[in-house]
Amino acid sequence: MEYTLKTETEFAKDVLAGLSAPQKYLSSKYFYDQRGDKLFQQIMRLPEYYLTKKEFAILDRYKAAILAPSISSRFNLVEMGAGDGLKTKILINHLQQEGADFTYFPIDISSTVLDELKADLQQSFTSLDVEPIVGTYKRALEQRKWENDHPTLLLFLGGNIGNFHYEQAVGMLRNVAESLKSGDHLLIGFDLKKDPDIILRAYNDAEGVTRDFNLNILARINKELGGDFDLTKFKHWPMYDPVTGECRSYLVSTQSQKICVKGLERDFYFEKAEPIHTEVSKKYSHHELEKLAAKSGFLVVQDFEDQDHYFTNSLWQKQ
Ligand SMILES: C[S@@+](CC[C@H](N)C(=O)[O-])C[C@H]1O[C@@H](n2cnc3c(N)ncnc32)[C@H](O)[C@@H]1O
Repeated sequence: MEYTLKTETEFAKDVLAGLSAPQKYLSSKYFYDQRGDKLFQQIMRLPEYYLTKKEFAILDRYKAAILAPSISSRFNLVEMGAGDGLKTKILINHLQQEGADFTYFPIDISSTVLDELKADLQQSFTSLDVEPIVGTYKRALEQRKWENDHPTLLLFLGGNIGNFHYEQAVGMLRNVAESLKSGDHLLIGFDLKKDPDIILRAYNDAEGVTRDFNLNILARINKELGGDFDLTKFKHWPMYDPVTGECRSYLVSTQSQKICVKGLERDFYFEKAEPIHTEVSKKYSHHELEKLAAKSGFLVVQDFEDQDHYFTNSLWQKQ
């Protein structure tokens, strides 16, 4: 099959940079195509993936307290990386029951997931005002399509902030702070440091769904950029470092091999056992998240946690 050169897309540029680097890497934001979205939804239902269940329980139990500071007047509900909105629906449901006046702006890099979310919300909440924003966090924060005189509650759920190394998280949250007005709120999810076995199992489930999710990034390069990755020649390898709190996922080449990516007009060489770094999921201590809030211009209002203290939804206010 003929492949037109696709070197101008952001995906192509990032794949070229990542596979040409001395330590190969690919960004986890590219996991999420149509298949990746579905695999992630399967991951959320896995017994080992405690994050979704814990956050669901927190939002369900504390929804009234979490939303109390925002609910009194018209406001913007903005969500970074909304996905299928599974947990957000708990908050939206409460807001609708309370007769709150708001517009929901879900942001996501995956247009498929946003189309499905909008259709789903319009069916469940017929009067809800939804304005999806397709694009990266960075672009959405620059454009600020929700900007008006009303206060904003920005949601950053699901441990999405964990996909950034600490210094990158500071930069991202400073951008979030810049996009908000003084007094606006941010509800942010943090997976907390805990028994390494529990953490590692969440990224290495028995069924192998997380493995397929990790490998999907290579399938995507094959499909969209004309790559010839053989997925059976890469091994899913997650590891947890209790010092940094980073759970990092790799794809390790099981043999020396040459990969041709026609859309980039490039060959990439792998030595046997050479890794591609694909994802980080950083776990936080309370001390670290308080430091992060202060460094990025927020005050911690309150932490809402599950009974096992695995996860926290932290409500912050822009200073
Ligand atoms: C781990 S899922 C979490 C989804 C949802 N917030 C939840 O907690 O269930 C991450 C979502 O963020 C989106 N995403 C990841 N990186 C992104 C980026 N840099 N910009 C915009 N969306 C991104 C993905 O497409 C995906 O839907």
